[in-house]
Amino acid sequence: MLPEVFKIVGISRQDTSSLDIVENTRASIEARGEVCDQDILDQLAQNISIFKMSITEPDRYLDLKKYLDDLEAQLHETHKSVQKIKLKKLFYMAVPSTILSPIIDNLGSSGLNKGSRLMIEKPFGYDLISAQELVSELGKYFEEDQIYRIDHYLAKETAQNIMTFRFENPLFNTSWDNKHIKMIMITASESIGIEGRSNFYEQTGALRDLIQGHLLQILSIVMMDKPDDMTAESVHFAKEALLKNIENIYEDQITLNTVRGQYDTYRSEVNNPDSTTETYAAIRLNVRGDRWQGVPVFIRAGKALKDKVTEVAVIFGDSDEVETPRRGSSINFANVLTIRIQPNEGIGLDLRIKKPGFENEIKHVQMDFCYHELRDLAHPDAYERVLVDSLRGDRTLFATSQEVLESWRILDPILNAWQNRRGELEIYETGSWGPKSADHLVARDSGEWTTDLAHICQI
Ligand code: BG6
Repeated sequence: MLPEVFKIVGISRQDTSSLDIVENTRASIEARGEVCDQDILDQLAQNISIFKMSITEPDRYLDLKKYLDDLEAQLHETHKSVQKIKLKKLFYMAVPSTILSPIIDNLGSSGLNKGSRLMIEKPFGYDLISAQELVSELGKYFEEDQIYRIDHYLAKETAQNIMTFRFENPLFNTSWDNKHIKMIMITASESIGIEGRSNFYEQTGALRDLIQGHLLQILSIVMMDKPDDMTAESVHFAKEALLKNIENIYEDQITLNTVRGQYDTYRSEVNNPDSTTETYAAIRLNVRGDRWQGVPVFIRAGKALKDKVTEVAVIFGDSDEVETPRRGSSINFANVLTIRIQPNEGIGLDLRIKKPGFENEIKHVQMDFCYHELRDLAHPDAYERVLVDSLRGDRTLFATSQEVLESWRILDPILNAWQNRRGELEIYETGSWGPKSADHLVARDSGEWTTDLAHICQI
């Protein structure tokens, strides 16, 4: 899917060669049990080059600019085109948030910002203030439509399907509100731990790592109003409006609405016996407005848990108070719509039917759609999608500054309260489903219906 004329320039302080990169590519493709297309690897090898520099040295940016200009001139020669070849540049940055600012400054001062796109990996900031600083730094040299902030969760096939599923099926489109939906729960449980990323994780924690970007992004597409059309602008407008309506959880409500936990072997893994970094976070949010008032929204993420499950559970219910549901109103009957983001990608609907037999007994059954049924179609990996979209200039699946700032606005009070030691840190057993208090948090809202809701994925 690459354009006919392209060049990839790697920036490295080390003596990496383009051959090393191609060989690493081959090894990683083969490690996934996939077959390498030698022609494509050869094409890549011919078009990759390395420019050796330290990204913190301002002087080297002018040299980089010259290098890219020369490359452009060479391409023009090789392709003997009538019109001058003009490279569109995309700068892709997978760098720590702390060195993002000087890079942006250097790109801007050397004129490399003009007409270029900027693709930025998370984390975008550390809290609201640092994110605001980054936004204003970027704003000095780049327009918002030049910026592509990666959130690979948005590019996962099932996550993208959320919009189609919601808006193209009248059954769900017309019942997507608090008259029909009683609770929404987004879960990202991982069985892996921190995988040796001690420094990164000690400064990050589950709330920043998974909830700030990935899960609040998913939440916004699950709950946003239908955009006017499917252009990037309209989708972003609808997502931003939803995020703005999420109420803050202030310090006096922290214990009631948040849970933080840490797996039992974490402290020895990071070699810090006093660490209070959470490897599990659960929060309960309220969304203002006629459509969602009264519907509790739970977001949970954790590491070293029993299984890898990322899913959205939408609980349609029949409650005591249909018109103006309030906290704690019990759900009498429910249908659960489960959007499985991974693994076993698909969508399931839990329904009630009559159990065959003489008695009039009720039984739960699952109506299930599984992506496996579409196995003959190409399923691009989320990162393939992100890269292709950025080259095409489609920003729909990227997060805007406003979305990122809203997510920090929502999480900042929780982070501060936790830092001030509000809300106890519960140690949980590796391989379990996480802190018991997270189950209680969910069960409180499900009333008498079922406490199994805590492990919705098993229903
Ligand atoms: C990353 C986090 O963004 O997402 C990791 O930094 C996490 O801690 C990963 O493990 C999960 O991604 P996926 O695609 O495996 O669900």
